[in-house]
Amino acid sequence: MSSQLLKRFKSRRMTLPPESDCTRDTPASPDATIKRCSYIKPMFDFWQSLLAALERIAMLPSLIHSVFPSLSSRKRMRDAVRTYDRTMDDLLREIQRLFEAPLKPAKLLQMSGKLQEQFAPKLQASDICMLPSYNDKLPTGLEQGTYLALDVGGSTFRVAVVELSGKHPGAKSMRIVNMKSYTIDSSVRNLQGNAFFDWMAERIEAAIADPQVKKINGTQSLGMGLAWSFPVEQTSIRSGNLLAMGKGFLATEGTLGQDLSELIMAPCRKRNLPVRMDSIVNDASATLLSRAYEDPATRFAVILGTGFNVAVHLPTSALATSKYRGYPQKWLDEASHVLVNTELSMFGKNVFPTTRWDDALNENHVRPDFQPFEHMISGRYLGEIVRLIIVEAVQTAGLFSGELPEKLSEPYSLDTETLAAIEMDESKNSTEAIAVFQSRHPLSKPPTLHDIGFLCQVCKLVSRRAAAFLAAGIHSLWSLRITSEGLTPQTAERMAIGCNGSVIEKYPSFRELCQSHLNELTTASGAEPHAISLEIAVESAIFGAAVAVCCLEK
Ligand code: BGC
Repeated sequence: MSSQLLKRFKSRRMTLPPESDCTRDTPASPDATIKRCSYIKPMFDFWQSLLAALERIAMLPSLIHSVFPSLSSRKRMRDAVRTYDRTMDDLLREIQRLFEAPLKPAKLLQMSGKLQEQFAPKLQASDICMLPSYNDKLPTGLEQGTYLALDVGGSTFRVAVVELSGKHPGAKSMRIVNMKSYTIDSSVRNLQGNAFFDWMAERIEAAIADPQVKKINGTQSLGMGLAWSFPVEQTSIRSGNLLAMGKGFLATEGTLGQDLSELIMAPCRKRNLPVRMDSIVNDASATLLSRAYEDPATRFAVILGTGFNVAVHLPTSALATSKYRGYPQKWLDEASHVLVNTELSMFGKNVFPTTRWDDALNENHVRPDFQPFEHMISGRYLGEIVRLIIVEAVQTAGLFSGELPEKLSEPYSLDTETLAAIEMDESKNSTEAIAVFQSRHPLSKPPTLHDIGFLCQVCKLVSRRAAAFLAAGIHSLWSLRITSEGLTPQTAERMAIGCNGSVIEKYPSFRELCQSHLNELTTASGAEPHAISLEIAVESAIFGAAVAVCCLEK
């Protein structure tokens, strides 16, 4: 992306029409404004009430019809005389103020500091975040072999044969030989307890029936590596206890705390599948392993797709000894570092300022407050924040002439991918953005240029805030790592971060914006420019699941 384009994206000010004196938060000349407002306000209120009464009369037929809403009644609603609490420009100005105010470097640094305060007790004791693994060393990149890798993500389950061939000049060191992908929709997310693991076993059975997979081990059982996109309390390199799952999954009903390996292996055995679980890692840790296989300087990995997480390679001493309960003495004697699944998504309560839309999202969530950070930045939630704003804008400011597209009244019906498509259209007439929105959320008349302009600005405000908050989160863990290594920002070496997930990989300008905030924050802390670089790690969960098995065989 050109630096000019980035500047435009980063520019703090969006061009909005000037506010009227009476609605401005801080009036230019308070006395004069108050005086003028003192007689304008009652007059305004009188006209508002009169219009509202007329509106009720004019809308009576459509109100009756709204019990059985039809396209024509929705059209009548739209065409009826409507008054709104405020203009769209007024509302947009408020949204802009709320979403941009926290993004100044000094404020982001403060958030990073507060996050570090939240880390401290969790590094001492917590069974849901700052979770150590049994992976102490990172791969050398020379390991070789062919493995069956499983990746349970928020919206897909993938089963792949992965070939690792070590470093050869000019050749790819990791290759997916064969992969089957199964959608995880809400019906799968709603499967409770063992029903979910049965569903997995059925898919594993289908995937290994492929002749290419059968070829790997002949008649011997297949070693599997699992990348699990949820927290897990590791009990060995190949097992771990199931912890609470976010992303709307119900698989923990009646199975919470049980051994994840056994939960998957039991239905596999019932089906006589020739497989065994060799390794379990969280998907963020898998991303770190996979990226480190290619670049030994990697110490961090970020996942930002449906969910959000960061894995870090930390000195073992960064975590209290009680965190290693049950670890073999040999491991404790030999390990200098440990791969930690931070579950960063669970931090951030009272750190990140919230808006009324964030609060509404949290209140209506199945697990309120479980993952405050994720609620503000991940792909599962960006669309929902924008949807809540749209609903308010339709009802109070006349967006889409007051018509709410039918589907948008349902929670989580606006995909983050639609936001990305709207932001992507930089043309003057927004033809593409209008077409995308109208095809996914039909209105009786397509959105006007003003409507789509409003929507596009809202998407940008929501996604830019997410990119900035992610930078604050990465900065906080970077600071933690530097301190626990006994380094300073000046003496710390440059660091690469492997990044995976639809938002960080594909959302327009997201990674570039986050990188630019990171540059500001790390230099403000005294580091050389570009102390951290965000690098895409393609298919890293599936590769990482294989690398984890491979490391085991070293
Ligand atoms: C989960 C993490 C996972 C992340 C990315 C979060 O919701 O709690 O375990 O790594 O999503 O998939």
